[in-house]
Amino acid sequence: MQTNAGTTVGGEKYLNYNCWLVKNLNYAPYRRCQYCKYRFRNCLFLQYQIVSVALAVIILPLFLLFEGKISALAIISVFASITVFGYFFNKSTEKIIKAQFAQEQASQKLKELSDMLEVKVNEQTQDIIAKNARLEKLLQVRSEFLDVASHQLRTPVSMIRGVLSMIRDGDLEHLPRDKQAQFIENAWQKGAKLDIIINDILAASEFDTQTFMVDSKTPTIFLEDVVDQVVKGFQLEAERRSIELVWHPPKKHFPKVKGRVNFLEQAISNLISNAFKYTPSTNMVKEARSRRDKKGVVGVTINQVKNNIVVGVSDNGIGIPKEEIKKLFEKFVRASNATAMYTDGSGLGLFIVREIVEGHHGNVWVESELNKGSTFFFSIPVVSN
Ligand SMILES: Nc1ncnc2c1ncn2[C@@H]1O[C@H](COP(=O)(O)OP(=O)(O)O)[C@@H](O)[C@H]1O
Ligand SMILES: [Mg+2]
Repeated sequence: MQTNAGTTVGGEKYLNYNCWLVKNLNYAPYRRCQYCKYRFRNCLFLQYQIVSVALAVIILPLFLLFEGKISALAIISVFASITVFGYFFNKSTEKIIKAQFAQEQASQKLKELSDMLEVKVNEQTQDIIAKNARLEKLLQVRSEFLDVASHQLRTPVSMIRGVLSMIRDGDLEHLPRDKQAQFIENAWQKGAKLDIIINDILAASEFDTQTFMVDSKTPTIFLEDVVDQVVKGFQLEAERRSIELVWHPPKKHFPKVKGRVNFLEQAISNLISNAFKYTPSTNMVKEARSRRDKKGVVGVTINQVKNNIVVGVSDNGIGIPKEEIKKLFEKFVRASNATAMYTDGSGLGLFIVREIVEGHHGNVWVESELNKGSTFFFSIPVVSN
């Protein structure tokens, strides 16, 4: 239905194209018509005109029947009254049509308002549902973290307390010097592990509640420089564990990547410390000694593969059972051979690595063979020019 070509209803230049008369004469609309959207045949004024003309047509011959002076007077007065009546009728139809128009406008506004309200209510509902889901996730994460905290933090704490109580009660003094040193070293080690677990829990809970992503403001860096820094930091630990740490820094720079150095350092550290932890050397772990007859070797590599820089951390350690590989990057997941061997570990290290790498638009994966060793890889896309 074409009602307002060009201008809107109620406007001065409005033409009701439904009205045959208005459309065909295309006349500057009569005020009343500016508010009228009806067809010509529904026009109140037209109906009045027809009735008036019909009345005139009936009355006129009647008066012509009576000759005399009054007939001319009567005809004039009939037409005069029709014209005056017509004027007021026209005014009143204008009012009626304007009122209808105002009512229509009001109901249209009301509909718009209720539509808007519905959209707002829907938006709010979605928002509440999303917030609720987030809260539920937070609660779940909280209970998972409490679980791991109670398991993983208790063991080292009770071990440290044990050594401290031996010192307090003077029991340690009665032991031979090398035994004393071993107890103190163990307590120190547990303290260090506690530190790692607490840091892992803090980092993982942060990644769990707000996902990290590199963006346009993230600086571009040479990934090999970050790897080099981290590997150097592990040299002493490698010696202490009698592990051969192999790393050949590349002679030339690879293309740069967008990266947060602190996060990338953490990811590489997690992989190297896992490689150390799960590649026991003969003088470190009693249970592992019987399973090993070769020197621990941990290798770190970096390469460019198409548009990615790929970092690899390999070891010749305990490996991972094939069926357990898939889930390793999830929170709190530890492979059965690892739990059987060491009680320490939060199962958060690889989850943190995955969050960091995916936050850099990269991928992380592992190739492993049980009792032979594992290689963890991650790739970060190079910056495109
Ligand atoms: N280099 C590795 N060799 C063998 N198993 C590994 C290695 N790195 C990780 N894993 C397996 O992945 C699990 C998850 O690792 P991670 O998230 O760092 O937790 P955590 O070291 O605290 O156990 C480990 O418990 C272990 O089963
Ligand atoms: Mg770990």
